[in-house]
Amino acid sequence: MEISKPTSIGVIGCGQISSIYMEAPATFDILNIVACADIDMVKAHAQAKRFSIPKVCTVEELLADPEVEIVLNLTIPNVHSEIALAALAAGKSTYSEKPLGVTRAQGKAVLDAAQAKGLRAGCAPDTFLGGGLQTCIQLINEGQIGQPVAATAFMLGHGPESWHLAPDFYYQPGGGPMFDMGPYYFAALIAMLGPLRRVTGSAQTSFPERTITNSLEYGRKIKVNTPTHIVGVLDFANGAVGTIITSFDVWSHQLPRIEIYGTEGSLSVPDPNTFSGPISLRRANEKEWHEVPLTHGYTKNSRGIGLADMAYAIQANTPQRASGEMAYHILDIMQAIHEASDEGHHIELSSTCPRPTPLLAGMHTLAENY
Ligand SMILES: NC(=O)c1ccc[n+]([C@@H]2O[C@H](COP(=O)([O-])OP(=O)(O)OC[C@H]3O[C@@H](n4cnc5c(N)ncnc54)[C@H](O)[C@@H]3O)[C@@H](O)[C@H]2O)c1
Repeated sequence: MEISKPTSIGVIGCGQISSIYMEAPATFDILNIVACADIDMVKAHAQAKRFSIPKVCTVEELLADPEVEIVLNLTIPNVHSEIALAALAAGKSTYSEKPLGVTRAQGKAVLDAAQAKGLRAGCAPDTFLGGGLQTCIQLINEGQIGQPVAATAFMLGHGPESWHLAPDFYYQPGGGPMFDMGPYYFAALIAMLGPLRRVTGSAQTSFPERTITNSLEYGRKIKVNTPTHIVGVLDFANGAVGTIITSFDVWSHQLPRIEIYGTEGSLSVPDPNTFSGPISLRRANEKEWHEVPLTHGYTKNSRGIGLADMAYAIQANTPQRASGEMAYHILDIMQAIHEASDEGHHIELSSTCPRPTPLLAGMHTLAENY
């Protein structure tokens, strides 16, 4: 599609993740960042200077700016829905970092407001649009592993307090390893296998407090107010059964990231928090795993591709891939796994979403998809 004009983006939240989004217009012509804001104006000014963003302003001024068409919401998780709702109330579409909200009520409020206003509410992650996961989706769709029957997904580590400059939010409700990293794993699983129908799980907090070891605040303690080792059992609507573990409590492990098992073979899927490979396949009649070349583009860190896809989808009036509907389904799944642990039973999910439409293989630019 020829773009009629680039879409004007206003960024709210100029913290750690904002830099990669501010580089995105160099890759995606449709994106034009016209303003940025933060409650910490020092951060907003610093990022504006670094990325030559023409306007620095308060959140209120950005929301009132008629030039801004999409509010890119890069604040911390428990502020996501408040900013998204304010953007929608101001008549602007919104694209949030994950998660959509920290409660179902927050996520639902954002979806309802977007629908009522005829606006979009997109949400990260968008790593499933990278060349690695798109190649996996194509392999599954081609029937390379037959009918998918099972999946495993593992994200285990020892938490962000060794590297993040403000790690407190990871240990509050709505943080924790599942709310933080689960969206990458669930988006990848849903893009490959479709939505889930029910879940159960077990969750625990292995360490009641954490000690910051990044250089800025070395030694400061954080009280842990959310589970930090969560095990989930996943029933997909297509009949496949999955296992997920997300943990901030494990020093070391040798588990794969994601594997999909089918009636005719197995697929080893790359880290869903990246855009590239490696991908390995072993079919029933093969003696060994073999690496599969990537068939799709955007294999470098292409964060912002979901926002660019949303901007194209608005102009083409087509569904977007990193949708609020999928983000809400993921939020519902993550909440339900935590609740299942407290309540001791399976939880049927009331939400669902379509499998996002795959990107074209061998494309040179994202625009070719519209
Ligand atoms: N850091 C990463 O590697 C990473 C990776 C992927 C996704 N994310 C996601 O990106 C989001 C932001 O993470 P981060 O690491 O950049 O955090 P951060 O704390 O570095 O940045 C968040 C920014 O939002 C600002 N902010 C908070 N409340 C605000 C409000 N009410 N109005 C305006 N600004 C407000 C803060 O001042 C801060 O500058 C989170 O949802 C996180 O899950 C982070």
